[in-house]
Amino acid sequence: MSDLKVGLAGLGTVGAAVFRMLERRAGELEARTGRTVKVTAVAARDRSRDRGLDLSSVAWFEDPVALARDGDIDVFVELMGGDGDPAKAAVAAALDRGIPVVTANKALLAKCGVELARRAEASGAGLHFEAAVAGGIPIVKTLREALAGNAIERVSGILNGTCNYILTRMADEKLSFHVCLTEAQRLGYAEADPTFDIDGFDTAHKLAILTSLAFGTQVDADAIYVEGIRQLTLADLEAADDLGYRVKLLGVAVKTDTGIEQRVHPTMVPKHWPIAQVSGVTNAVAVDGDAVTLTLVGPGAGGDATASAVVGDLFDVARGARGYAFGLPVDRLAKAERAAMQRHEGG
Ligand code: NDP
Ligand code: HSE
Repeated sequence: MSDLKVGLAGLGTVGAAVFRMLERRAGELEARTGRTVKVTAVAARDRSRDRGLDLSSVAWFEDPVALARDGDIDVFVELMGGDGDPAKAAVAAALDRGIPVVTANKALLAKCGVELARRAEASGAGLHFEAAVAGGIPIVKTLREALAGNAIERVSGILNGTCNYILTRMADEKLSFHVCLTEAQRLGYAEADPTFDIDGFDTAHKLAILTSLAFGTQVDADAIYVEGIRQLTLADLEAADDLGYRVKLLGVAVKTDTGIEQRVHPTMVPKHWPIAQVSGVTNAVAVDGDAVTLTLVGPGAGGDATASAVVGDLFDVARGARGYAFGLPVDRLAKAERAAMQRHEGG
């Protein structure tokens, strides 16, 4: 069988980890899929930067949109970030020419997911985004495939590694908010603009994607009530501790009589609850279905954890798995009706 030629846009924390993982796991991927999965073209901003990667046999594109539109590739992997161009234009260009896309970009999906899903639908190319929600936790596949037999009542959890890292270290080590945030940035957990993390928007982007998958609705991040952790002080966390609680930034989507309620806010969680013990960069996603209730716990950010999800999607592409847009196969999306009204809590 033929090679799977990968075009990789973005060689930062996640992109470089994907490049290395594909090198490391090439033999295993070939044994499982019958195809050699290899990066043949890349795009990033600074060509002179030493990334510790051997890029000698790889085509370099200054412009990620040109890579997506003209590159000799079978799949386009978008790991640049940002909810506008060039990420959006590049993803659209690949989908429009029928090339499947793998992305970790929840900001882009939350803002433009419906439009991109329509493009995917029109060309029949898959849009794969396991890495966009909760890093290494395979929650997208779990909701879309494994739990397909369930009517989902509620999806909730810790969806941002940076915030959980900050809250854990502040509470356990009495460190300041800013010291913890700087460390999360150094470790590659935070977004390029960390206000997305600490003000709750990154959690909201992920929750919007989960809601779409769980309830078959269109992605709508604007419908979410959002409150972040910026205002929390050590004194707040100590007061919660004295009362027997840990403070966690939670995202919650729950089916109600009137629609789907979505919210993101710091929450006092009794210390003995399992979710209170989820520490550091770890995420936890709880799904309540009518047949199965479960919680997945795992690394929510970082290069290798996120690369694990990206490479899992590439494995699907290599073995010819059918493309999905959001909750539905790409060729079924147009027939789907919006399943439920989404509303602000109390709005
Ligand atoms: P980084 O900032 O580390 O890397 C971004 C990469 O994109 C860099 O290589 C940069 O080039 C390149 N890039 C940015 N803008 C452009 C542009 N205009 N043209 C060409 N290249 C560009 O980000 P991350 O790796 O942390 O994140 C990438 C994506 O993955 C984001 O969507 C993020 O939300 C998502 N994500 C990140 C996780 C994490 O733990 N870090 C976890 C899950 C998802 P250069 O290196 O030359 O500057
Ligand atoms: N900045 C994000 C986080 C990366 O901290 O969770 C993973 O999506």
